[in-house]
Amino acid sequence: MTTTTQPARASLSTAPLSGRVSMAGDKSISHRALILSAMATGTSTITGLLEGTDVLATAQAMQQMGAQMTRLGDGHWQVTGVGTGGLRAPEAALDFGNSGTGARLVMGVVAGAGIGAEFIGDASLSSRPMARVTDPLSLMGAQVSAASADKVTLPLHLAGPPTAMPIDYLSPVASAQVKSAILLAGLNAPGKTTVREAPITRDHSENMLTLFGAEIERHSDGAQHIVTITGEAQLQATDIAVPGDPSSAAFPMVAALCVPGSDVVLENIMLNRQRDGLIRVLQDMGGDITIIDERQQAGERVADLRVRHSALKGVEVSGAIAASMIDEYPALAMAAACATGPTHMHGLHELRVKESDRLSAIADGLKANGVELTEGDDDLLIIGAGEAGVEGGGLIETRHDHRIAMSFLVLGLFAKNPVSVDDTTMIETSFPTFFSLMQTLGVQFER
Ligand code: S3P
Repeated sequence: MTTTTQPARASLSTAPLSGRVSMAGDKSISHRALILSAMATGTSTITGLLEGTDVLATAQAMQQMGAQMTRLGDGHWQVTGVGTGGLRAPEAALDFGNSGTGARLVMGVVAGAGIGAEFIGDASLSSRPMARVTDPLSLMGAQVSAASADKVTLPLHLAGPPTAMPIDYLSPVASAQVKSAILLAGLNAPGKTTVREAPITRDHSENMLTLFGAEIERHSDGAQHIVTITGEAQLQATDIAVPGDPSSAAFPMVAALCVPGSDVVLENIMLNRQRDGLIRVLQDMGGDITIIDERQQAGERVADLRVRHSALKGVEVSGAIAASMIDEYPALAMAAACATGPTHMHGLHELRVKESDRLSAIADGLKANGVELTEGDDDLLIIGAGEAGVEGGGLIETRHDHRIAMSFLVLGLFAKNPVSVDDTTMIETSFPTFFSLMQTLGVQFER
């Protein structure tokens, strides 16, 4: 848990952002690469692994359950798995720090492995809802005990049944974490486990389970997207080159669009259709973003992005796109503040249960910087400052939330007065190279 804080300040960027940078590995894919290689038979090599503290917590958890992991160099790991049925109960609690993805996916792993484990996390993670995962895992036979039955949160103990029962589950929330937890538990269940969702969420688990040799079927019946895994599967070790994280790319992307004269290339960005919503919205706002050299890597679409400063205009952002950019709203809100005219974002209720209540953190932070807005229960209307410029001058409470910290540092690069954030330590969870990467593009923050 974080004991000290590191404030930082961003001032109007005097020079444009320029140059090329390669983005660090995708967080979602890094978690899944470690989990699946730990459950596979044989030794997998992972390159480009994101070594943020969220992902390292998942690595630690899978080692506590018997997987062997060796770090060979920067982002270069070798993992020897135990086979799908081979995980053992951890002796100590599994500590997921700030990571909802790690905690929720590994709950699925534990439920399917017929073992018990204690799940703990930091203050932010311990306030986040877990029933969305423990409810379907209970239907599969898991026993869950937490302090309150009304609102299930960490710390909790989860024990998988000797044999998990396959289920057919319609997820009440649009959540890739829920879908993935059920599929991971279903790996060991006899028969077929099905998850139905609407709208479709990121499908990295499905893509990577297929790469490791599991049988995954997917189809859409118009209203629902349906994924089925055939259980009692054997996973085979596979080498994974993790593509770059579009959610981290969001910060230099918005900075380059809003700081006059900027022209950057962000290399190696994963463009899964359920992750590229921000790029589509920014292009709709008039953002000059060119997709270069599209290719396939680790079962995912990858490309380089050239991003040039643009005069953005406000737009309507339908709730239908929310699942494909759920982590990008803090960055989009900064772009909306620099655009001309109103940007109205809908379908934002899930932001209330992220690392912080992000909807309120964004709204409070923008207000502290003189941006006009209206915060609804499920929507946010931001009146962009356009040529008049964002006033700035605010001190932001980051609320243990990495994306709030990075977003407001980006705002400070184009606001008229410096923007300060109370803490930057959480940036380590998802984007440990944020400051050095921004420096390569010519941007310096005061710390
Ligand atoms: C993630 C799914 C999303 C996202 C999170 C990563 C994943 O969460 O916000 O950062 O890797 O599956 P939800 O499933 O809660 O939407």
